[in-house]
Amino acid sequence: MNTPTAFTNIKLQREDGVTFVVLNRPEKRNAMSPELHREMCEALDELETEDETKVVVLTGAGEAFSAGQDIKLYFRSTEEDARGRARARRDSHHWRWEKLSKYAKPTIAMVNGFCFGGAFTPLCACDFAIAADDATFGLSEVNWAILPGGIVSWNVAQVMSFRDAMYYACTGETFDGKQAAAMKLVNFSVPRAELRDATVKFARMLMKKNPAALRYTKECIRAVRNMDVQQAADYLNAKSDALRYRDPEKGRAEATRQFLDEKSFKPGLGEYKRKKQVP
Ligand code: ACO
Repeated sequence: MNTPTAFTNIKLQREDGVTFVVLNRPEKRNAMSPELHREMCEALDELETEDETKVVVLTGAGEAFSAGQDIKLYFRSTEEDARGRARARRDSHHWRWEKLSKYAKPTIAMVNGFCFGGAFTPLCACDFAIAADDATFGLSEVNWAILPGGIVSWNVAQVMSFRDAMYYACTGETFDGKQAAAMKLVNFSVPRAELRDATVKFARMLMKKNPAALRYTKECIRAVRNMDVQQAADYLNAKSDALRYRDPEKGRAEATRQFLDEKSFKPGLGEYKRKKQVP
């Protein structure tokens, strides 16, 4: 794995299974440059198979989560450079959507501050999102005469209500973390001073679950959204069988034993006792 110092636009912070992937251009409000996109592709590819990382938290250094695509480096500097533009587009889409939305490990967007434009794609791609109460969200594209491109329009049409997506995309008005939580763009918001602890607490709760069951569950919740009921029934039956055979912990058998024979846990109230518990 690259050492964190090998990256210049992002940094990695590992904390007992929780790996913070930090967009690290605070002086530019973590605007996403072609180089940042390239580093993110590399980092996420590595973390996905690294044992040390159980949950990935995406966040930003300083005042911003991310101010969106870098208007200078992503857009203007590549105007006359078709190859550079194509590469930047490919990398940008790869990590912000293709990689994150299919990630093998749970992902949390920790929105610490400004979140604009193109930053909505990784926000929506992550499995979960937690915001600071005073974070500032905005679909600002309309303010500078473009539309929410890449796949931002599609992202917000999926994750936000139709009325909210239309309203905020057409007005460019900002909203804060509390509003984002009320409209369920994020799972919840907390005061900024508590954001990191609340995120780690949530990540640790996820780490107690059987990893294979968690992975299959998040894949299923995403996949069935685009299926009819018959397709969903077939798919879910097949995935249930696959999970049963592919789970290295054989969690289902163990949980059944603990519930029926040992009577040592109640599945309705918490997870079974896994042999290898997280710290
Ligand atoms: N692209 C390039 N540079 C940026 C971006 C951006 N998206 N956002 C901020 N910066 C730069 C500024 O140009 C400035 O650079 P400078 O110090 O060299 O002048 C630096 O970051 C700090 O920005 P300020 O505007 O001074 O910071 P402030 O905290 O006052 O405001 C805010 C932050 C509100 C985020 C403001 O910078 C802004 O509106 N940025 C653009 C947000 C946006 O519209 N994003 C969508 C981009 S389009 C897309 O993603 C598809």
